[in-house]
Amino acid sequence: MVTIGLIGAGKIGSQLARLAVAHGYDVAISNSRGPETLTALVEELGSKARAATVVDAAKAGDIVVVTIPLKHYRTVPVEPLVGKIVIDTNNYYPERDGHIAELDNESTTTSELLQAHLPMSKVVKAFNHIYAAQLTTDGRPAGTKNRRALVIAGNDLAAKTTVTRLLDEFGFDAVDVGPLKEGWRIQRDTPGYGPQRTAEELLKDLATAKRYADQ
Ligand SMILES: NC(=O)c1ccc[n+]([C@@H]2O[C@H](COP(=O)([O-])OP(=O)(O)OC[C@H]3O[C@@H](n4cnc5c(N)ncnc54)[C@H](OP(=O)(O)O)[C@@H]3O)[C@@H](O)[C@H]2O)c1
Repeated sequence: MVTIGLIGAGKIGSQLARLAVAHGYDVAISNSRGPETLTALVEELGSKARAATVVDAAKAGDIVVVTIPLKHYRTVPVEPLVGKIVIDTNNYYPERDGHIAELDNESTTTSELLQAHLPMSKVVKAFNHIYAAQLTTDGRPAGTKNRRALVIAGNDLAAKTTVTRLLDEFGFDAVDVGPLKEGWRIQRDTPGYGPQRTAEELLKDLATAKRYADQ
């Protein structure tokens, strides 16, 4: 049985937990305030879900999702995530996260920051450009005409294959934009960020994306 660990239980974390439980996964979900604050959510999620501390969710997860305000990424525990696939949903909003020089000057990307913090983990960027509410409304079975597609990026091909399979189970096609350093193509204010897109449309959006400095 595969367990999905969630670090973050907000809009995206809770929605991914709902999808995971609905597709037969066990879930260990955590937030910054502690498991006792997640009682209502885990009651709603049912017997396949449990509230955990951040370290416990990281230890329990075969796949772990980091879905917290980006500014807190350095608090993600390193050791329990060694060797694991870590899905990164995070985006950079300076008004929320404060200014991060390497992101302002675009010498790196959000998911590369998390990968640098977790050097022995396999970070895959995913679920960063869909509104949380749409995670449970927009999924369709594989092969459905105009099925919505979501971008993934990552440096480990096998990890991306696993995440592609997960997206497919959750109802979405995956479009692989390449290594993490290409993740800027789906960052805030790029054409593909937010709207519902098929794989074909998303590929065009990725090709026409511009760096902040060129916008
Ligand atoms: N909302 C969207 O539609 C959307 C879409 C795509 C991507 N994203 C991105 O995904 C990330 C999460 O977004 P969200 O909208 O789900 O945020 P959110 O609703 O504000 O929830 C954030 C969650 O992270 C937890 N958290 C904060 N600091 C933490 C820490 N140091 N360790 C563990 N947990 C911590 C919070 O727990 P407490 O409440 O206990 O502090 C809360 O459960 C963000 O980077 C966002 O930009 C959001």
